[in-house]
Amino acid sequence: MSILKKVEQFREEEERLRWEGTFADYLELLKEKPWIAQTAHSRVYNMIKDAGVEEVNGKKEYSFFKDQLYGVEESLEKLVEEYFHSAAKRLDVRKRILLLMGPVSGGKSTLVTMLKRGLEQYSKTDKGAVFAIKGCPMHEDPLHLIPTHLRKDFQDEYGIKIEGNLSPLNMMRVEEEYGGRIEDVLVERIFFSEDKRTGIGTFSPSDPKSQDIADLTGSIDFSTIAEYGSESDPRAYRFDGELNKANRGMMEFQEMLKCDEKFLWHLLSLTQEGNFKAGRFALISADELIVAHTNESEYKSFISNKKNEALHSRIIVMKVPYNLKVSEEERIYKKMIQDSDLAHVHIAPHALKVAAIFTILTRLKEPAKQGVDLLKKMRLYDGESVEGFNSQDLEELKQEDPDEGMSGIDPRYVINRISSAIIRKQLTSINALDVLRSIKEGLSEHASISKEDRERYMDFIAVARKEYDAIAKKEVQKAFVYSYDESAKTLMDNYLDNVEAYCNKNKLRDPLTGEEMTPDEKLMRSIEEQIGISENAKKAFREEILIRISAYARKGKKFDYNSHERLREAIQKKLFADLKDIVKITTSTKTPDESQLKKVNEVIARLIDEHGYNSVSANELLRYVGSLLNR
Ligand SMILES: Nc1ncnc2c1ncn2[C@@H]1O[C@H](COP(=O)(O)OP(=O)(O)OP(=O)(O)O)[C@@H](O)[C@H]1O
Ligand SMILES: [Mg+2]
Repeated sequence: MSILKKVEQFREEEERLRWEGTFADYLELLKEKPWIAQTAHSRVYNMIKDAGVEEVNGKKEYSFFKDQLYGVEESLEKLVEEYFHSAAKRLDVRKRILLLMGPVSGGKSTLVTMLKRGLEQYSKTDKGAVFAIKGCPMHEDPLHLIPTHLRKDFQDEYGIKIEGNLSPLNMMRVEEEYGGRIEDVLVERIFFSEDKRTGIGTFSPSDPKSQDIADLTGSIDFSTIAEYGSESDPRAYRFDGELNKANRGMMEFQEMLKCDEKFLWHLLSLTQEGNFKAGRFALISADELIVAHTNESEYKSFISNKKNEALHSRIIVMKVPYNLKVSEEERIYKKMIQDSDLAHVHIAPHALKVAAIFTILTRLKEPAKQGVDLLKKMRLYDGESVEGFNSQDLEELKQEDPDEGMSGIDPRYVINRISSAIIRKQLTSINALDVLRSIKEGLSEHASISKEDRERYMDFIAVARKEYDAIAKKEVQKAFVYSYDESAKTLMDNYLDNVEAYCNKNKLRDPLTGEEMTPDEKLMRSIEEQIGISENAKKAFREEILIRISAYARKGKKFDYNSHERLREAIQKKLFADLKDIVKITTSTKTPDESQLKKVNEVIARLIDEHGYNSVSANELLRYVGSLLNR
């Protein structure tokens, strides 16, 4: 579909959803759809819930966050249940500023942005619909029109509790424009949009000296004072601060703790009493979620300041720690690379995994539990099974240190190192070793890492490198094994010839020289030993195979590689063991002969076709594994 077509569809959609009516009409609508009167906090909670909740091992996972935030399900569950769910039930937490605390690049901004974009979408759905007094710059809740003395009756009839008072501006408008008849006041459906400054706001502090509180609460419009005659006429006031504009939805307060105190006092009243002071007017009621974010050290210095005590009790802090699962960390990198200008670069298989291993190790706390080291802990966290440990142990490990995940290497650092390696060397392809090297080089330039940490991190690079060595060897061997399907057959035929001669007490004939030979005991044993057949049991095993072969022959079936389970296993294992040498020779020879060259090409083709390499990275892998095997 062309982009213009989409634009048109979008416009039609908005047109279709538009609703306008009198307050009387709105009350009718409310009877039909009582949820449209929900508070901002409740809307956020329902938005998250409506996207779908899954129970996985007794833990909640919200589809709402799935696309963008990985591996932090437990923190999200806490956030949604302890803050949003309670706030939706009008419990007191609603009156507190939500402060997300977490390490750098731990996904705080991502989380806030998801809520904003989510609300924009949700306000277009039936469940998330929002209505406001038409023409009000603060999109005031129409129910504020109900006079205080009638609210009890209203609640009895509609089951809805009204909070907040009609703003000075709308109070005046009701008189001036509607002659006091609230039932005639026009109400419209609104759609949240950060761009249009409807229901979504962002406040970020600038220079404390020049920053004006007007950015938050609006300001007097001097050009209209002459018209209205007085500064205290609400029509001469522009309700266009972020707090005004974010009413009914949410406001992000960036760098809140860096902000001047006088800004914070406005928030105090807003959060506690649900209203704030603007200009010379009576308090203005607001219903919005305020989210701020900060890191741990900033937060600690904030609460250690006595002056901030009052504010402190009005903040609810939710931790947003780093992800601690290797596989999820790998997904984070993939996503970040997709979103960056690195998307065209070939990243060799396992490169991101190896980086993730390093990163997660820097984030984990040394386990206190017996028999667990950091590497085991890392595997357990990632859902791998580690011999001798179960899910109970995993939970215990997680409880050991509540600060785990609040420090360590951040994902952006890794992406920056990958990109710097690519740019510096003008690579079109990058492998695990390049990535580790670049991460290592960067550590010495990294300003915020202490000397001790740097040393620990260097060790983790070595650990990650070892993990990679194991992965790389296995990968190459696997690629060789498959190209050695033929060899498996040859090896088996050879074994069977020998077994036959052994059982029949015959000699074999050398196919080349025609000389007679005794059965090759060494060869047979080397295969049998792979599956633990003892010297005493070998005769029985060999005879059993011969019986199987003749049984096959009688039925006119061909005995092959797959006809005897244990024999196949033995052959495979033997091949793998032998491969070590083949791989070693093939990958490290400087002047491969024709057949070696053929093998190498086969293996490379397989790595490319089946394992996601390109020719550069496949060749690099082979060379590296060759050097490993020659050590
Ligand atoms: N758990 C995670 N899941 C998915 N992506 C993540 C996660 N943690 C971080 N990221 C990614 O890392 C990058 C940085 O995240 P973001 O900007 O949200 O962090 P932040 O906590 O706001 O950082 P800062 O403290 O620097 O403001 C983003 O691209 C984000 O998508
Ligand atoms: Mg941020």
